[in-house]
Amino acid sequence: MAPQEFILSLEQETLRHKAVRHPFLLRFAEDSLTPIQIQTFGLQHYQLVKVFLNYMTNLLPKIPDKDAADLFRRVFDDEFGQYTIFRSHPALYRNFLRAIGLKDEDWGQVPLLPETAQFIEEHMQLTRGSDFLASLGAVGPGHEFSIPTMFTYIVRGLKKNTSLTEGQMEYFTCHIEEDVEHAKVFNQLIARHVETEEGQIRLREGTMRSLSLRKYFWDGLSRTVFNEYSSSTSGVASK
Ligand SMILES: [Fe+2]
Ligand SMILES: [Fe+2]
Repeated sequence: MAPQEFILSLEQETLRHKAVRHPFLLRFAEDSLTPIQIQTFGLQHYQLVKVFLNYMTNLLPKIPDKDAADLFRRVFDDEFGQYTIFRSHPALYRNFLRAIGLKDEDWGQVPLLPETAQFIEEHMQLTRGSDFLASLGAVGPGHEFSIPTMFTYIVRGLKKNTSLTEGQMEYFTCHIEEDVEHAKVFNQLIARHVETEEGQIRLREGTMRSLSLRKYFWDGLSRTVFNEYSSSTSGVASK
């Protein structure tokens, strides 16, 4: 498969993945939610938000392309908040947590669900590992490309169940737009490294690993927020 064709087919596969249209997301968008249910989601998801930049900083030095830092500049600027820490993505997320009635002490000591802990642990391992292509797959298509679809469900649920202002939901709405651009940056890099079948296999493996972990993360939230157990009892798919 030619590189562009491969990228397109991986994106289509990503959109079909259970992680991206998980029953948790569908219920969050459609059900009547209590403030506690929204807070429970918010606190677990914050654990992912606050470590995301670590994946990027683990990955960047491993990419052989000399212009990788320049290409990622836009992604880092958005994450760090365009030169003001008050608009960094974790800061925008804390605005959301405050708006749903939580305080510093609430998000300072959240017991991680096993699924949340595994998501973070394995993404740290993946991005610290030697295979930069698998990392690119996990962070690029695995995160940046899939997030706008997943967050559309979250925003729908928040609009339906809360009186949050646009500003208080900005963390989610800004990702629906920004991550489309971030995914393009990743694709620019990816295209150079998936000329071979081997490159395509390694890249896809990273993406699918990340999506399996994401599905498992939503399984944990289904159980905790909706008292619903996943039909697949085996947890996250093995490597
Ligand atoms: Fe972000
Ligand atoms: Fe992003």
